[in-house]
Amino acid sequence: MKKTNPFKFGSVVDEPYFTNRVEELKQIKSLLQSKNHLILISPRRYGKTSLMMKAVNQLDRPYVFLDLQLVTDISDFASQLLKRIYRIYPFERLKQLIKSFRIVPVLNVNPLTSEVDVSFQPAASALPVLEDVFNLIEKLGKNSKRPILILDEFQDINRIGNGLDRKLRAIIQHHKYINYTFLGSLESMMREIFEKKKSPFYHFGQLMYLKKIPYDDFYEYLKNGFSGRCSHTGAISKNILDFTHSHPYYTQQLAFTIWDNCDNSLTTEENIEAAIHRLIQIHDMDYERLWQTQNQTDKKVLIGLSRHEQNILTETFARKYGIRATSTVFSSLKRLMKHGYVIKNKTAYELDDPFFAEWIKRKREA
Ligand SMILES: Nc1ncnc2c1ncn2[C@@H]1O[C@H](COP(=O)(O)OP(=O)(O)OP(=O)(O)O)[C@@H](O)[C@H]1O
Ligand SMILES: [Mg+2]
Repeated sequence: MKKTNPFKFGSVVDEPYFTNRVEELKQIKSLLQSKNHLILISPRRYGKTSLMMKAVNQLDRPYVFLDLQLVTDISDFASQLLKRIYRIYPFERLKQLIKSFRIVPVLNVNPLTSEVDVSFQPAASALPVLEDVFNLIEKLGKNSKRPILILDEFQDINRIGNGLDRKLRAIIQHHKYINYTFLGSLESMMREIFEKKKSPFYHFGQLMYLKKIPYDDFYEYLKNGFSGRCSHTGAISKNILDFTHSHPYYTQQLAFTIWDNCDNSLTTEENIEAAIHRLIQIHDMDYERLWQTQNQTDKKVLIGLSRHEQNILTETFARKYGIRATSTVFSSLKRLMKHGYVIKNKTAYELDDPFFAEWIKRKREA
């Protein structure tokens, strides 16, 4: 009997928790071997970071990865980047190049880990500091392998500094020895940054939209994971995917919970129900809070979506829920999408989190 749970959710995954994405991996690697830049977009937790890390780990190239969500301001942006540069390039080489910085960084070496901590003296404007760090990466690329710079959660760029997208574009547009990759999840905001004609990053690189993992592949992956542990592996896998609609994170989470508690004296449906119940219970307080922060129309739209009502943008729907007009429903959908609660697949809208959908349904039926 298998001892360790073969499913994983929440953090970046690689083999043996990684499935499919063969074509995407090929495309990304090929793009990074050219002189182009990449913009990778998907709803939350579809596997952007995992895919990107897998791609760069298969290329014999230096890379710097920075999650912009954790960056507080422009000076911190520069420090965090430089700290990561110190992890991959020799100290002596950097020492020479950093001499030309307009503001000299303060370095602290942790004697136990040899990790370098970087900070900059406060300056009237932190932008020159950031510019120097980006230009440093360009210089490093000029004389050795082209570095790959991965800026994750890039939609946060203008939170770090007002109009920073425009300023950053001005800094990096002349770079020839770096492959830039921008990853982001709030779809509408990423579109604003990369698709609007007036946006500074318009046509800056290849746009790639990551979709859910294809059904057949995910099914095989799940079935394989359950074998030797739970009975009816095919039926369990099918039921999971019916519930999660192949969402990478929620599929792994549900599979993980079922595997852990799998009771072969119960039916498949009972095992699935027990796991769904457990997960909804765990998130009850989060969902309660989420629900309370929605306005009346948004609540109605969420209810409609949780019931998989297909006619969401029709007068019939608006009338049924006492909403003034379909345009009001549309504004609500846009708002919910902007916050990542709702996603649009092909033509249908759906709730991103199938457990939240189930929570709404159960609360209303209770
Ligand atoms: N190729 C894959 N095969 C199987 N599961 C995957 C795969 N990619 C992602 N997942 C599942 O989705 C979860 C989220 O992955 P990851 O953190 O890479 O997504 P993300 O799009 O970067 O998320 P975020 O929006 O939070 O940044 C993983 O922990 C894993 O459970
Ligand atoms: Mg990520």
